Amino acid sequence: MKNVVVTGATGNIGSRVALTLAARQAAGQGGGVIGFVRDPLKAAPLAAAGVTLRQGAFEDDASLRAAFEGADTVVLITAGSTLAEQARAGIEAARAAGVRKIVRVSSLKASVDGPTDATRQDGRVEAWIRERGLAHVILRGHCFMQNILKNVGSIRDEGKIYFGTGDGKIGMIDVRDIADAAVAAVESEAWDGQTLELTGPEAIDFHAVAAAVGRELGRDVTFVPVPPVAAGDTARRFGVDAWTATVLTEYCAAYAAGWGDFTTGEVERLSGHAPRSIADFAREVLVPAVRGG
Ligand SMILES: NC(=O)c1ccc[n+]([C@@H]2O[C@H](COP(=O)([O-])OP(=O)(O)OC[C@H]3O[C@@H](n4cnc5c(N)ncnc54)[C@H](OP(=O)(O)O)[C@@H]3O)[C@@H](O)[C@H]2O)c1
Repeated sequence: MKNVVVTGATGNIGSRVALTLAARQAAGQGGGVIGFVRDPLKAAPLAAAGVTLRQGAFEDDASLRAAFEGADTVVLITAGSTLAEQARAGIEAARAAGVRKIVRVSSLKASVDGPTDATRQDGRVEAWIRERGLAHVILRGHCFMQNILKNVGSIRDEGKIYFGTGDGKIGMIDVRDIADAAVAAVESEAWDGQTLELTGPEAIDFHAVAAAVGRELGRDVTFVPVPPVAAGDTARRFGVDAWTATVLTEYCAAYAAGWGDFTTGEVERLSGHAPRSIADFAREVLVPAVRGG
């Protein structure tokens, strides 16, 4: 049975991957699951579910190597302005520790000349992974449906969703499907060497998002387009760091221009189930958040 380390294990995707793998292990269907975490207190629910915690940070090479010791596979999730540096440290530590395979959660259409800094950084990361000769699967996630949770307050108070993508259609995805795809990429060698763009079932604009949310909520919800720069500025005013706000502006401009107007069948191919729709997300995640707050 192979041991798997999940980095970013307290995050949206990593926590679901770690919990799913731990459940498989508890059912006798998988090896050990290790969560690489900065804060064991924050990771207490993972430990309670059977995930072994190894504390550290990407900036601490010794902690990375210790966490990766004895692992067959690393699910490499990094985040923020230094995401490429973090990933580079993770790739080098994986090689030093004798890790066989990396499952990388990357950015949509990652490319060194992409339209956002996250896209460009992940373009570099993907090149390093391929150069280093490790077995790998690269999963490029489309825009997360969970980003809409930032609008819970305006949906509840005003029946409005503000966002900076204009009429651009986006093949947005529920992060639960990215996690399911990552688990499949860990458990099977069938996808090794592949780079897969993961999307939801349809490319939709935010007018359609608002309509779907309204249907599930049972009241009118409308989309209010704002300029991409205004979306970034608003995020900054709500306490988001400068890099993230700039990247948000860049993504909004790209999506408004149609850069994200596509879907693929990769989620179903990997996970064996259809990707969740915006109606599924609204019913199961967003509306409970709107009603619960
Ligand atoms: N938003 C989108 O639409 C979208 C689309 C595609 C891809 N992505 C990217 O996909 C990646 C995963 O997304 P996510 O939502 O799962 O991320 P997330 O919820 O923001 O979680 C990030 C994880 O990385 C950990 N982390 C951050 N800096 C670290 C460091 N220096 N050392 C060790 N751990 C560190 C965090 O730990 P703490 O809990 O300690 O902070 C957390 O566990 C991100 O890079 C995201 O930007 C996003």
